[in-house]
Amino acid sequence: MNYITDYIEKNKQRFLDELFELIRIPSISSQTDHKPDMLKAAGYWKQSILDAGADKAEIFATEGNPVVYGEKTIDASLPTILVYGHYDVMPVDPVNQWLSPPFEPEIRDGKIYARGADDDKGQTFIQAKAFELMVKTGTLPCNVKFMIEGEEEIGSGSLKNWCAENKDLLKADVIIVSDTGMIAADVPSITTGLRGISCLEVEVSGPSHDLHSGIYGGAVANPVNILCKMIASLHDENRRVAVKGFYDDVETVGNEERRELAKAPFSQEEYKKEINVGELWGETGYTTTERTGIRPALDVNGIWGGYTGEGAKTIIPAKAFAKISMRLVPNQDYKKIMDLFKAHFESLAPAYVTVKVTPLHGGQGYVSPIISPEYKAAHRAITESFGIAPVPFRSGGSIPIISTFEQVLGTKSLLLGFGLESDAIHSPNENFPLYNFYKGIETVPLFYKYFVEEYSKKQ
Ligand code: BES
Ligand code: MN
Ligand code: MN
Repeated sequence: MNYITDYIEKNKQRFLDELFELIRIPSISSQTDHKPDMLKAAGYWKQSILDAGADKAEIFATEGNPVVYGEKTIDASLPTILVYGHYDVMPVDPVNQWLSPPFEPEIRDGKIYARGADDDKGQTFIQAKAFELMVKTGTLPCNVKFMIEGEEEIGSGSLKNWCAENKDLLKADVIIVSDTGMIAADVPSITTGLRGISCLEVEVSGPSHDLHSGIYGGAVANPVNILCKMIASLHDENRRVAVKGFYDDVETVGNEERRELAKAPFSQEEYKKEINVGELWGETGYTTTERTGIRPALDVNGIWGGYTGEGAKTIIPAKAFAKISMRLVPNQDYKKIMDLFKAHFESLAPAYVTVKVTPLHGGQGYVSPIISPEYKAAHRAITESFGIAPVPFRSGGSIPIISTFEQVLGTKSLLLGFGLESDAIHSPNENFPLYNFYKGIETVPLFYKYFVEEYSKKQ
């Protein structure tokens, strides 16, 4: 036992109770009827940062959901760490697949089950409780700022402007983010890359209204059939994305780096078992880890049109829709990819239909260096707390605001995530192992300590 594990042991139940209170607020950013919950969650965070020992905390209104900002300055000559996280969560559907209600956290087999248990309430709570631990034990070694937003899951639209307007307030030496994962609890890792993303919606229109499929069937093109065909053509026989120009700017990763990346342990069999698929799928010539880490992808996230209610209804629908997202790698520009997709998709449209493509939101990818005081500090901290040295790995997920931080604030981010792939984020039965939650709280104070050390070596 040391002062860190001692403090955690004494307060572990309260940490959970407090996290559960936050989780019970259903702060789903994409659904407007949850607007009051966004304000509640922001209010909760403000109080939580104050209680943990911040000098001040404030809620900043934006055009969208508010940003919570807090800080503690102990000595202006010491470095400053800026903590970023998000209090918004994804919708819970299909809700009937949850074994316990999504906003009533429950502990089963050593895991917290709830929407937001990992992404990103549980993970950001690690940062808050570690901060509290350092303040209350008198071991905080540097200045701290918190910035917690409520629009990450819908593209961080308001935070982009807010950062540009508050550059001085946000001045820091590094940004730390607990919103990614590790390979496994016994294979700790540090995320060194995130993919970019472009999200769009497409609409295929045929006849002016739904038609009787007996009277018209066979004589009029069906927009749902056409949309399916168009979507099917978006991958070629090697399962590469067929959008014209899509790969033009893709950074080629050299063989040496590919060999380095391949060192991270990975079991294809376990991976398949975990998600219950018989065979894996993806671009020819790349491994599974490469397909998500260093290669781009295109997926339909949702598709609808016509009658989807109970029983049958014999119609030719007037319209068909789909939501499509593309995961991008460094160097691919998300706006350029949106333009390429739009031009390509419109060019696919046969004369029987009209096609509308609407860009939704997106963001650039990110790569973080492994030679930096923050990476070294994270490596030392994880080695000590988990008892195993972490490996670097590139994640397939996206946090669009991270590249904005670099562009607008000029500050690099360290992705110090404690989630697991099996946490089922965005899915029914999202969960977060208690082990990871408490190990996270143990790791962060060590990170602070080593960061200040490594940082002073650099100066
Ligand atoms: N925390 C995730 C991103 C993530 C998860 C990165 C796991 C790496 C590993 C984040 O909340 C998220 O879901 N981002 C969205 C971004 C989108 C809505 C713009 C994503 O990746 O789908
Ligand atoms: Mn997240
Ligand atoms: Mn998410």
